Amino acid sequence: MTRFVPPYPKPMRGFGRWLNLLTRPAKFVFSRRCSLRQLNERSYSMQLGEVGLPHKRIYIANQPELVQRILVEEADDFPKDPMIADMLGLLMGNSIFVANGEEWKCQRRMMDGAFELTRLRAVFAMMREAVDALVARMAARRDGEEVQVDVDMTLVTADIIFRTIFSKPFDPAHVEPVYDAFLRFQETAYAHGMLRTFGIPSLFTGLRYRRARKAADEIRSVLDPVIKERYDAFHAGRKGPEDILESLIAAKDSVTGRSFTYKELCEQVATIFLAGHETSASSLSWALYLLAMDQEIQENTRNECASLLGDRAPEFSDMKKLVSVRNVFNEALRLYPPVAFFPRRAAKTCPMRDKTIAAGSTVNVSPWLMHRHRKLWNDPDSFDPGRFRRGDSEQSIRQAFMPFSRGPRVCLGAAFAMQEATLILASLLRTFRFEPAPGFEPRPVGRLTVRSENGIRLRVSRI
Ligand code: HEM
Repeated sequence: MTRFVPPYPKPMRGFGRWLNLLTRPAKFVFSRRCSLRQLNERSYSMQLGEVGLPHKRIYIANQPELVQRILVEEADDFPKDPMIADMLGLLMGNSIFVANGEEWKCQRRMMDGAFELTRLRAVFAMMREAVDALVARMAARRDGEEVQVDVDMTLVTADIIFRTIFSKPFDPAHVEPVYDAFLRFQETAYAHGMLRTFGIPSLFTGLRYRRARKAADEIRSVLDPVIKERYDAFHAGRKGPEDILESLIAAKDSVTGRSFTYKELCEQVATIFLAGHETSASSLSWALYLLAMDQEIQENTRNECASLLGDRAPEFSDMKKLVSVRNVFNEALRLYPPVAFFPRRAAKTCPMRDKTIAAGSTVNVSPWLMHRHRKLWNDPDSFDPGRFRRGDSEQSIRQAFMPFSRGPRVCLGAAFAMQEATLILASLLRTFRFEPAPGFEPRPVGRLTVRSENGIRLRVSRI
């Protein structure tokens, strides 16, 4: 059976040992616009790769045992690399995504409560309101129109995260400015962080830094005033609605007894806002593209939704039962994991395979490579959601599927993301058919998340 093989940046060819040594630093500099461009064919089958830059060494660990050590067993010895703070600190400060050590542990204890299962049940109705609004917007368009679905996915996921944090819809007047500011932040913050990693002094990355700061300030100017109002009300003894923000304002660390200050709260909310919509929007856009390219899988997934739901609206309890929808989403996460690299810093010198990793080196785990590893998966580049149902991929999934990371720093919003994605895909498939727009092919690029440089254009018709 021939399966659809979606596009990905073609690996660079090797030029022989000596020429490679000369060209590698140049490849890294070019990768400031797309992290996936630094990969070559061997990256997809190697166990441990190494790149020497003039001032430090960068490794990519591609073997399940090494990944387990870095992310799980020895996680304290592999804190997040400073490049993360270089990229995201302007918007997120030293919040949960960026912090390390005891500071991070304390923040994680305080935030876990906001994402418990009971909260997910409580926010389901708000998710559904945002999805109903999306379906209504899409239904108002001309039947069969070509649509930039990645924009729709960004707007609905931003609306969902806004409603679940603040208990109100995203103000339409803010939608476009915030969307635009996030686009600028993505590009400039990523490029700034990469150039700093190559050892380029901040003097030469200043312009990018200023642009990223301006975009971050624009986003914060929308979020911070709403937080201020609720923070002041809480401390004046007025209880707010039961949402993510209320749970963060009320959070007290069980070990230190500490609460978040107003500034810390703003940084955590900005983090959840970005981490909570950009990643989901990326993977949902890819999922719709993949479904458009395989009409048979799309039809089977739609039939599952129809036989479970009939004409009624989806409920919280349906989410786990929509197995084919979840498998499609998992396969989109496998082929296009939104976070393509997890950069860590070796806190101490340690052995890995035949190498000695010096303290201070960057050690990357890459779901992008693990998910397409030639020796770990059957038919790794093909779109085949059935692999999540059949037994033949059990070991590959256990060893090498990690879109939400693993270990203590596993994504805080993984269950939230699975719930919203299942709801969005099921709701869209019941109402619309997605087909490829003639002549369109996406160009995947890896920046803060894996997106298509030219968007995702599909033809959308009513069922
Ligand atoms: C498909 C959607 C998502 C994907 C693929 C994803 C992926 C990830 C990954 C890979 C990490 C760890 C990064 C690293 O270790 O370097 C992470 C962390 C995180 N994610 Fe997600 N995420 C998604 C959705 C969400 C949502 C919806 C939220 C919040 C509502 C969220 C909040 C966070 C937070 C707060 C962290 C930091 C956790 C910590 O370091 O303790 N994510 N995510």
